[in-house]
Amino acid sequence: MQSAERRQAIIVLDFGSQYSRLITRRVRECHVYSEIVPATTTLAQLRQNAHLDIKGFILSGGPSSVYDEQAPLCDPAILQSGLPVLGICYGMQLLAQQLGGHVAKFSGQREYGPATIEVLADAVNDRQTFRIFEGIAISPTQTDPLEQSVSTAPLRLPVWMSHGDSVEALPNGFVVIASTESTPVAAIASPQGLVGLQFHPEVTHTPQGKQIIRNFLYRICGCKPGWTASSVIEEAIGQIRQQVGQERVICGLSGGVDSAVAALLVHEAIGSQLTCVFVDTGCLRTGEREQVIDTFSVHLHIPLVVVDARKRFLTRLANVIDPEQKRRIIGTEFIRVFEEEALRLEEEKGPITFLAQGTLYPDVIESTSHDTASTATRIKTHHNVGGLPEDMSLKLVEPLRMLFKDEVRELGLALGLPEEWVWRHPFPGPGLAIRIIGAVDEKRLATLRAADTIVIEEIRRAGMYRELGQAFAVLTPLQSVGVMGDGRTYANVVAVRAVTSGDFMTADWARISPDVLGRISNRIVNEVPGVNRVVYDITSKPPATIEWE
Ligand code: XMP
Repeated sequence: MQSAERRQAIIVLDFGSQYSRLITRRVRECHVYSEIVPATTTLAQLRQNAHLDIKGFILSGGPSSVYDEQAPLCDPAILQSGLPVLGICYGMQLLAQQLGGHVAKFSGQREYGPATIEVLADAVNDRQTFRIFEGIAISPTQTDPLEQSVSTAPLRLPVWMSHGDSVEALPNGFVVIASTESTPVAAIASPQGLVGLQFHPEVTHTPQGKQIIRNFLYRICGCKPGWTASSVIEEAIGQIRQQVGQERVICGLSGGVDSAVAALLVHEAIGSQLTCVFVDTGCLRTGEREQVIDTFSVHLHIPLVVVDARKRFLTRLANVIDPEQKRRIIGTEFIRVFEEEALRLEEEKGPITFLAQGTLYPDVIESTSHDTASTATRIKTHHNVGGLPEDMSLKLVEPLRMLFKDEVRELGLALGLPEEWVWRHPFPGPGLAIRIIGAVDEKRLATLRAADTIVIEEIRRAGMYRELGQAFAVLTPLQSVGVMGDGRTYANVVAVRAVTSGDFMTADWARISPDVLGRISNRIVNEVPGVNRVVYDITSKPPATIEWE
């Protein structure tokens, strides 16, 4: 493992591409640590972080043209640092332009989508500049019968292209290493390790993209594979011990994977100095409270306090219809309950100094990126049981702050969290209260719980749970007429929502087979009293959100 003091790192400069985070994730998948920073970050700023041993830079793509008035530039010191730089799409054009080359303005020949690059023969013979494509197998799409032998065939790779402008004249010391039919300069490189790719190696539509990224990391930047679940755990434990010392820590469990993994790490580090608190708001799904107790108390032996606050929450929620008001009530009440519990635990066993939270890297990126955070309109007031206010005077322990969700899952598995838990769909802090449209009461909660249980059971039975981002039932405020046996019914309409999603910022409705939908509908109508109709939500996000409220 690399010294915890100085970790080898690749810095991704974010020029606004939708794929910037994906680049960072791909680098980490290759076991090299990577951070994403705003495009304007300077080398001097980056060097202030003594923990990072920067091995190279990646300039992401972005929507700009180098000819835009406000076109973001890269700190020249980064390009002059002597460290390798990989420019992708806009990043390549910037690299070329800033180093003295020339970019031709978009001339109506925008190329977007699948393309095939041909690696040039001269490049193959120059080992220094060819490193980015080294060891890549000849593409399986290469079936041209005229090619006599594989070894003499030019290397052709299917890639995902996207550009308007294109590099026309190279900076000194660069050579073209790949072309496509319509883009003569599809990849460039210098022997010093500066590389530009006009296509996206980070997307799965570029099948050998990961190998290209790996080449950049290992062959060009000289990285070692130090970023692994075990090294992350080891380091996190050390940091938590150092931060917390002999003090006590409290952690609110939500039933989701993030707070669970945060708690596990803290427990691994400081054992019984940690107490977890789980609040039953009355808006949980079937068996949720029992599962939390079983996993944490029984299975993982983590000190757990379960607060039964069902009555309190339901009293406050009575007759409340407005979604934002529901969210506010639950958020406030949750904090009250949590604070009371913390006080009680302090009286019992002495002061608590720290609050552990499962904050993830995307939350950190979001809150530090200048453009999105300030201008976004508030769509929903998110209440997350992890997101307790800092004015609780507790200091924060956030062991997952630099991790992506998939890394958190990997850590969870390595720490012994049951697989079923690791792959749980997200469940919102306000729980079923925002899946009951209209007023929330015991009866409607029971109806929704029963319907939701069936949705999940059938999705699991169809083997689809893992491929879906989220699936659940919603209780609508509609009554509709039906016929059961010989009698007329007038009962509730339940909606089923199932989506596929990468980051939950966007989502598509899941194309669940009609058979599975049919089984869900039949069972709900037959088994859940008071429901006589089931509808399936076929709206993507945007324009709809995933939750109905
Ligand atoms: P929307 O409905 O905004 O949801 O498309 C996006 C993701 O966020 C979850 N969600 C919440 N999670 N507290 C949470 O912890 C909340 O208040 C909340 N509201 C929505 C939602 O389930 C989906 O995964």
